[in-house]
Amino acid sequence: MTFRGWKFAVAKQAFLGVTLVAVVVLVGVLSGSNLIVSPVAGPNQGQGMISTNGDRSALPWSQSRALAAESNDGMFHLPAVDPGSQHLYEAIFQRRSQRQFRDEPVSLQDLAGVLWAGVGLTVDGVTGPTRAAPSAGATNPLRLVVCVQDVVGLEPGLYGYEPFDHALIPLAEGRFGAKLAAAALRQTAVADAPVTVIVTADYGATTGRYGERGYRYVYFEAGHAVQNMVLAGETLGLGSVIIGAFEDEKLAGILRTAAGVAQAPLLLLPLGWSR
Ligand SMILES: Cc1cc2nc3c(=O)[nH]c(=O)nc-3n(C[C@H](O)[C@H](O)[C@H](O)COP(=O)(O)O)c2cc1C
Repeated sequence: MTFRGWKFAVAKQAFLGVTLVAVVVLVGVLSGSNLIVSPVAGPNQGQGMISTNGDRSALPWSQSRALAAESNDGMFHLPAVDPGSQHLYEAIFQRRSQRQFRDEPVSLQDLAGVLWAGVGLTVDGVTGPTRAAPSAGATNPLRLVVCVQDVVGLEPGLYGYEPFDHALIPLAEGRFGAKLAAAALRQTAVADAPVTVIVTADYGATTGRYGERGYRYVYFEAGHAVQNMVLAGETLGLGSVIIGAFEDEKLAGILRTAAGVAQAPLLLLPLGWSR
């Protein structure tokens, strides 16, 4: 290395060091001011997650009641998520696609856990806020639309999951299970499930940075997010099946017309109590 090259290397290291310190300080300041919080409560506290000192009410979306209450910002704030203690290997071993569900509602707590596992926020002390599933360049192209048919505390309808608020935004009222199933080759799991998560993509978020290659990244990410949700469901006793067989235009049309969803649907994930 030449002397100039060496000086440049030292300057670069110093710049990176200062930047890292600045990021750590910023995360600390934001956490102190409650601008960054994690929707995860319980065992992960104090292990890199920003701590709320065990006080769930410190989380802005925390609910002491089982029912979702619409707040004056028009959102249904979801309960904090407790990662629990079930071993991941057990969930992987137990998982089987489930296409028939008991006629029983899903709790808001369980739905909150599944959605968080898909695209929810996590926070570490170094990089700051990130997501439960990895994303190429943190471009985060996925959006979750939730078809609620039988969830305690929520009217049937289509909702958008907002990771930053860990909340559901109502998009359209009504029972959409049969309509979605009609677009999905009449698969009864979609018609019958108490809740179906629709994974949609804003391709431009990723292709804007990676060009054509971005499409493959988006498909990978849909797989990461949906598998997280499948395994989270499994730990809660909720069965599910990934549905990839549907008419693209028909499903996109339902979401666009009924709920103003512009993103492209990639997968459906009906969830419920296995028969
Ligand atoms: C990308 C993808 C798309 C799928 N699409 C459907 C589908 O449209 N309908 C369905 O009943 N199962 C679907 N499946 C589930 C598979 O049929 C199932 O995973 C496979 O038969 C293995 O069974 P197991 O999940 O119980 O291990 C899909 C799975 C994947 C990964």
